[in-house]
Amino acid sequence: MKPLVVVTRNIPRISLDLLKPHFKIDYYERDRAIPRKDLLKRVKNADGVLCLLTEKIDAEFFDAAPKCRIVATFSVGLDHVDLPEATRRGVLVTHTPGVLTETCADFTFALLLSSARRIVEGDRMMRADKYPGWDPLMLLGTDVFGKTIGVIGFGRIGQAVARRAVGFGMKTLYADVQPVFPEIERSLNARRVEMDELFRDSDFVCVHTVLDASTKHLVNEARLKSMKRSAYLINAARGPIVDEKALVKALKQGWIRGAALDVYEREPKTEPGLTKLPNVVLAPHLASASLETREGMGNLAAASLVEFLILGGPPKNLANKDVIPKGRSATLSVGA
Ligand code: GLV
Repeated sequence: MKPLVVVTRNIPRISLDLLKPHFKIDYYERDRAIPRKDLLKRVKNADGVLCLLTEKIDAEFFDAAPKCRIVATFSVGLDHVDLPEATRRGVLVTHTPGVLTETCADFTFALLLSSARRIVEGDRMMRADKYPGWDPLMLLGTDVFGKTIGVIGFGRIGQAVARRAVGFGMKTLYADVQPVFPEIERSLNARRVEMDELFRDSDFVCVHTVLDASTKHLVNEARLKSMKRSAYLINAARGPIVDEKALVKALKQGWIRGAALDVYEREPKTEPGLTKLPNVVLAPHLASASLETREGMGNLAAASLVEFLILGGPPKNLANKDVIPKGRSATLSVGA
């Protein structure tokens, strides 16, 4: 009998087609997150689950899915997954790094440029038929080229953002627990600094770190106050890294000039007052949303399920590399 895989939301057709020959599929084919109760009921007999970042994969989930041996999340972020709990229960967790790096970096730059150069405000003016004709003082933004960008979290996406910054003649300051190799720093015109220096000296502060207990509200009132009044905050990582209440205050009171956000503290809700502010660009969590990349993510997630449940080997992009799979006595041997 074919193993049962639960797919918790609409995914690209091409990725679903990769699963079809191998699995019995329970497909929640909707464009909304699956209700929790429904999810817990459906996973009862599942051997594997392809989920999204909207599903909490926690102890309650694992209790409801006693046969589940692998969870493949259609996301690079893992903050919705209790990884230690998965490992303890012998459940493999895979995610989708790599395929979305350049797409997310493009989007970060799109946010940066549209906030600095006031593109969204201009678009609103045109659509409202309020363009009075060329005016030397209308919608003045701020230059991007030659400025300093501060990158919090200098992993794949952070470095891809810095590569783009090189093209704009920008200097990069970065904060990360690990320094990168000196030759990478040189090629990216990047320098590792303490977090406080990054906030103080950057013209654009871009958030690219993971969300965990140590990064929740990393961008708080004190740090926003320490930024240049001419600076911008860009967040396309995870909402709770920024204290959204403090950000609304900062934007209202002019502690910083502007912000651009793709993610929110209580997604899909936003902090009261945020959507009324003219000096913030707001996107609905779109950083990886190109057709090619979403297909790439879906295919990676689907491939992990096939690699493990059908071929019995280690799946690519295993997040809990020390897991001992249910029913086996040793970890899978996976390459780094
Ligand atoms: C998107 O936010 C992701 O984690 O892939």
